[in-house]
Amino acid sequence: MTDQAFDTLQIHAGAEPDPATGARQVPIYQTTAYVFKDADHAARLFNLQEVGYIYSRLTNPTVSALAARVAALEGGVGAVCCSSGHAAQIMALFPLMGPGLNIVASTRLYGGTITQFAQTIKRFGWSCSFVDFDDLAALEAAVDDNTRAIFCESISNPGGYITDLPAVAAVANKVGLPLIVDNTLASPYLCRPIEHGATIVVHSATKYLTGNGTVTGGVIIDSGKFDWSASGKFPSLSAPEPAYHGLKFHEALGPMAYTFHSIAVGLRDLGMTMNPQGAHYTLMGIETLSLRMDKHVANAKTVAEWLANDPRIDFVTWAGLPSSPWHERANRLCPKGAGALFTVAVKGGYEACVKLVNNLKLFSHVANLGDARSLIIHSASTTHRQLTEEQQIKAGAAPNVVRLSIGIENAADLIADLDQALAAATA
Ligand SMILES: Cc1ncc(COP(=O)(O)O)c(C=O)c1O
Repeated sequence: MTDQAFDTLQIHAGAEPDPATGARQVPIYQTTAYVFKDADHAARLFNLQEVGYIYSRLTNPTVSALAARVAALEGGVGAVCCSSGHAAQIMALFPLMGPGLNIVASTRLYGGTITQFAQTIKRFGWSCSFVDFDDLAALEAAVDDNTRAIFCESISNPGGYITDLPAVAAVANKVGLPLIVDNTLASPYLCRPIEHGATIVVHSATKYLTGNGTVTGGVIIDSGKFDWSASGKFPSLSAPEPAYHGLKFHEALGPMAYTFHSIAVGLRDLGMTMNPQGAHYTLMGIETLSLRMDKHVANAKTVAEWLANDPRIDFVTWAGLPSSPWHERANRLCPKGAGALFTVAVKGGYEACVKLVNNLKLFSHVANLGDARSLIIHSASTTHRQLTEEQQIKAGAAPNVVRLSIGIENAADLIADLDQALAAATA
């Protein structure tokens, strides 16, 4: 991070006045292509000898402003924006992987990510083994010669479990692999994984970064700290890259190698590009990120404490509660708060969960999180539906829990809504 504070960077990073017009707000550059000054200029851009705009599948000034802002907030050297959080995950792995190679991931992940890693990446010849990241010996044992990355969420969806990032980073460091951390639920305001040893951070910008349920987007941020040439395991970055006329990205671009590869090869060939409208909405959202996250966390505390003391509830998983097994980690790694997403086990199990969801009026029943408005979902029958019951339980999405994403409304109104719906659900 530069010397400026988070709440200054969230408004100013990446957003100088527009060089062409002086426009103070970042314009939406709704253009596909950019006129080259001459043939030599075009050749220099294509050779990566000069940084500039060619075609919006690769880069676009509005999208670049967002990438620069998120890189500054996360403390990375560079970032790449993608069409969704899921796209960001595939794009994050792309420079590292090849047929026959694998990753090791935490069991506590968003259900869609478990499906993406357990099933879909097999089509590329990649595979994933899932391990409880609290068992560091098991994590290390799961790594083999073909492993190319370790993946976890800082605060995990749906349980709000906190990963011990410094401990996991120490294992990654020991085995010489990059640690990729999905920081969606924390946002860089609550947790900055690079400071705890992460190599790469990914986001679903769909959630708190935009903050109002208007955009589908993703971001990958590189710490710039990993030595891609040390082991010979990352030839796309260290050896001549056949998909970019033999360029050795690490040798030519140093700490920006991963970011440039992700644009010049990843976005060019996979095309998972963020659109300038989406980038603009996300830039607007980020301007108030710290204010919103403070309110999300304050409301989560009030609601979680109220639920934890309610006789109709079995347990609440918010890591900000002193009774949580992850409370110490939350204080250490997320000192401004343990996020605003957690699960609640309702007495009466599956039936009561479904009735609760059906009777809420202020909470919306949707498959999303990180919105200004409060949201609820029964994960086992929706987002985590593709998983086995064993996987659901390991992921923190057992059939007897609902997931709450606490918004920034008035907390007393949220409690009143939960109170009346719980009465109906447990009558
Ligand atoms: C933690 C986490 N990571 C990634 C994703 C995927 O993001 P997107 O829906 O933007 O593809 C989600 C979606 O809910 C998520 O919760």
